[in-house]
Amino acid sequence: MSEPDSIPALPKPLEMAKLCISRAVNQGDIVIDATLGNGHDALFLAKLVGDQGKVIGFDIQQIAVDSASQRLANSGLNNYEFHCKGHQHIAQEVDESVSAVMFNLGYLPSADKSVISQKETTLIALEAAMDLLKPSGVISIMCYPGHQGGEEEAYAVLEFTSKLERKLWRSVKYGFTNAPNNPAFLILLQKM
Ligand SMILES: C[S@@+](CC[C@H](N)C(=O)[O-])C[C@H]1O[C@@H](n2cnc3c(N)ncnc32)[C@H](O)[C@@H]1O
Repeated sequence: MSEPDSIPALPKPLEMAKLCISRAVNQGDIVIDATLGNGHDALFLAKLVGDQGKVIGFDIQQIAVDSASQRLANSGLNNYEFHCKGHQHIAQEVDESVSAVMFNLGYLPSADKSVISQKETTLIALEAAMDLLKPSGVISIMCYPGHQGGEEEAYAVLEFTSKLERKLWRSVKYGFTNAPNNPAFLILLQKM
């Protein structure tokens, strides 16, 4: 098992996502980054799957796709296929099974903060990702209830995942209890 470097004993939510994803992914696997943003998560995934694997990425903003592509290229990686398209279209673009899917919801920090992921499309994408996931695979969803529009989405994801059949899905919530301003939380799903 390879684990991301420099994760403390009690990880932050995104670090916990990476830790759990790293336990479910092997070199050569195909994985999805459903919200590319600036490509930090895609870079993590691309290193994890190695040059025999592939990261399939989605973002609705060209600036995000360009930024993520540049980040991977700067690291000498070309094991990716990025789409400037909403993640609600995952099922049309991906026909391989995947071992992990990362969602990092909300807005692109360096851009227009009114462009945010939306409850309806996020839930469509999440169900498509669940269909594509291999047994034992992991989906991570970073939820941000603290920004305008984020609360409705975050709690919709929480409600949806809380109703999943326990024999089929392990569903876990993780986050700080003592951080201010309705802090981010992580939901992790593992297919049984
Ligand atoms: C918090 S950022 C992602 C951070 C990113 N994973 C990283 O490592 O830098 C959220 C991203 O979701 C994107 N987004 C919003 N709605 C989307 C949708 N329907 N499909 C795909 N991406 C979407 C935004 O454009 C934004 O870039």
